[in-house]
Amino acid sequence: MEVVITTAGRAAQLAADVIARAITRNARAVLGVATGSTPLGVYTELGRRVSAGELSLREARAFALDEYVGLPAGDPRSYRQVIADEFVAQVDIEPDAVLAPDGAAHDLVAACADYERRIAEAGGVDVQLLGIGSDGHIAFNEPGSSLASRTRVKTLTDQTRRDNARFFDDDLAAVPWHCVTQGLGTIMEARHIVLLAFGEAKAEALHQLVEGAVSARWPATVLQHHPHVTVLCDEAAASRLELADYYRETFANKPVWQSL
Ligand code: PGA
Repeated sequence: MEVVITTAGRAAQLAADVIARAITRNARAVLGVATGSTPLGVYTELGRRVSAGELSLREARAFALDEYVGLPAGDPRSYRQVIADEFVAQVDIEPDAVLAPDGAAHDLVAACADYERRIAEAGGVDVQLLGIGSDGHIAFNEPGSSLASRTRVKTLTDQTRRDNARFFDDDLAAVPWHCVTQGLGTIMEARHIVLLAFGEAKAEALHQLVEGAVSARWPATVLQHHPHVTVLCDEAAASRLELADYYRETFANKPVWQSL
């Protein structure tokens, strides 16, 4: 796992560089896109590059990580809509090439299996963007999630519902209790995972992810078993990392031929 301690602005550029390289290698690359506040800078940077003619996602495909259960289609808080507004609207990807789990499906179990099938049919995810919850979740895999889990229905923790109440006019009662989320086993099949974390509220989760014991108590720790994870974080999120100086030295002395 590579840990890069930098600014949020530089992190967004580095994440966009990873995506741009994947597109250069294969214009039809499959991107894994995340919601929440954290990846917004990456989408803005991708949009800037597309507008400047430096990058095109015209042939790319994308999969969202998760979705609330029970929000009607088109609800501005639904993650399908957030991805449409924050990512698709800024770049030139085909809207139909961007899929999200269906949290409004009548048969949620069948919808989860269908989502897994679609990811597999696309050849798997080349670059997966991730945020991290203050309770250590990735996507909506809350503490206690099976490290081998696949796309399924989960119940959100009280902490996550409180963290996300800001998207529901601070009305906790309006935040759904359930979600559909890619499992940890699903996410682990992405070929390169780029996790972003900013702010003091993420410091303990980031410490556990990078330096803690692998455990369902902190679901993000499963990433220690992944061969290619890049963590891009700011100083505040890095404030509890025990080996922060080593990570800084490693990045400062990275061989020039070695990309993220
Ligand atoms: P945030 O959410 O980017 O809004 O902090 C991250 C997450 O819950 O995964």
